[in-house]
Amino acid sequence: MKTTIRDIAKIANVSTTTVSRILNGKYEGMSEATRERVLDAIKENNYKPSTIARSLVTNKTRTLGLTLPSISNPFFSNLARGVEDYAIKRGYNLFLCNTDDEKEKQKLYFEALIEKGVDGIISATYYDDQEECFRDILNQKVPFIILDKNYEEGMKYRSSIDNYSGAYSATDYLIQNGHKKIACIRGPLNSPFSRERFRGYKEALENSHIEVDEKVILEGDFFIDSGEKCALEILKNSEVTAIVCFNDFMAFGAYKACRKLNKRIPEDISITGFDDIELSTIIEPHLTTVKQPIYELGFKTAGLIIDLIEKREPEIKHIKLDTELIIRDSVMKIKP
Ligand code: RIB
Repeated sequence: MKTTIRDIAKIANVSTTTVSRILNGKYEGMSEATRERVLDAIKENNYKPSTIARSLVTNKTRTLGLTLPSISNPFFSNLARGVEDYAIKRGYNLFLCNTDDEKEKQKLYFEALIEKGVDGIISATYYDDQEECFRDILNQKVPFIILDKNYEEGMKYRSSIDNYSGAYSATDYLIQNGHKKIACIRGPLNSPFSRERFRGYKEALENSHIEVDEKVILEGDFFIDSGEKCALEILKNSEVTAIVCFNDFMAFGAYKACRKLNKRIPEDISITGFDDIELSTIIEPHLTTVKQPIYELGFKTAGLIIDLIEKREPEIKHIKLDTELIIRDSVMKIKP
C-alpha cells in the first residue's frame, strides 16, 4: 500500500498541511523537533509525494514546454538539448512539441501545454505570423519566451543571436576573397532572423560598393530541397561565383545543385551556410558557415524562463549571443 501524506501526518502527529509545508521547504514558525519528526517519518516510510498532489498545493508542475518548427533539422535538437540540460539542473521536466510551424498545430500544442499546467513555455518558430497563438499564452500569464523574435509588446524578455553580424561576416569574407557576384538563398522575410541576415548580406555588399542584384536573391524555406531549387535557378541563369545561404540545410541543397550541374565547390562556386550543425564537417568539401551557439542559446533561455517562473527578476532581459564565422573548404579566393 502506497504511503500517503495522511499516513506521514499521523505518524509524526502533525496536520497534513504541516507535512505539505515541510515538503515545500516552508519552515516558518515550526519547531526544529517537529521538522525533524516529519522528515524522519518521510525517510523511514520512503514517502514520495505525488507530483499531481504537489502541483495542486503549489500550483506548479515543475515542467517546461518547448515548441519547435522542425525535428528533422539538427539545429533544433541541439537547441532542445540545451533547454533540457538546464531544466533538469533546476529540477524541471520538459515537454517537446513539433509544430511544423503550422499555426493550427502550434495553437493546439499551446493549449495542451497550458492544460497540462506547464510552468513556462519556450517557442522556436520560423515565422512572424504565429502571433495570435502567442497572445493566448500571454493572456494566460504563463511565462513565455519566443526565440529570435521581436514581439516587443508583452515580450519583455527575449533570447536571440546576432543574425545581422553573422550574415554580414559571411558575405564580407567572400568579398575579401575577391567575389563580387554573390547570390543569396535567404529565408522568407516574414521571419525576423531571416530579415536580420538579409540586412547583413546587403550592407556587407553596399559597404564594399557592390550593387545588390535582386536577380540573384531567391527565397528558400530553410529546408534542403528549397536550397537545391534556388541554387539550380541561380546557377543556370547567372554568372555568380558565390552563394550565401541562410542556413546549412539550404547550403546542402546548393551542393546537390552543383553536383547536378557539374559545378565544382569551391573551384567553380563558393558556398557559405549558417548554423554550423555537425553535418557541415561531414559533407565534402567541409562547409564554411556561421556558427550559432545553439546549445548555449537553449541553456540560457531555459535559465531565463525558470527565473521568471520562480519570480526572480532575471539579470539579463534580452539574451543576445554572438555568432562566429567558421572558415573551412567551401570558399575559394578568386582573382578580382
Ligand atoms: O536552420 C534552422 C534555422 O532556423 C536556423 O538558422 C535558426 O536560426 C532557426 O531559427
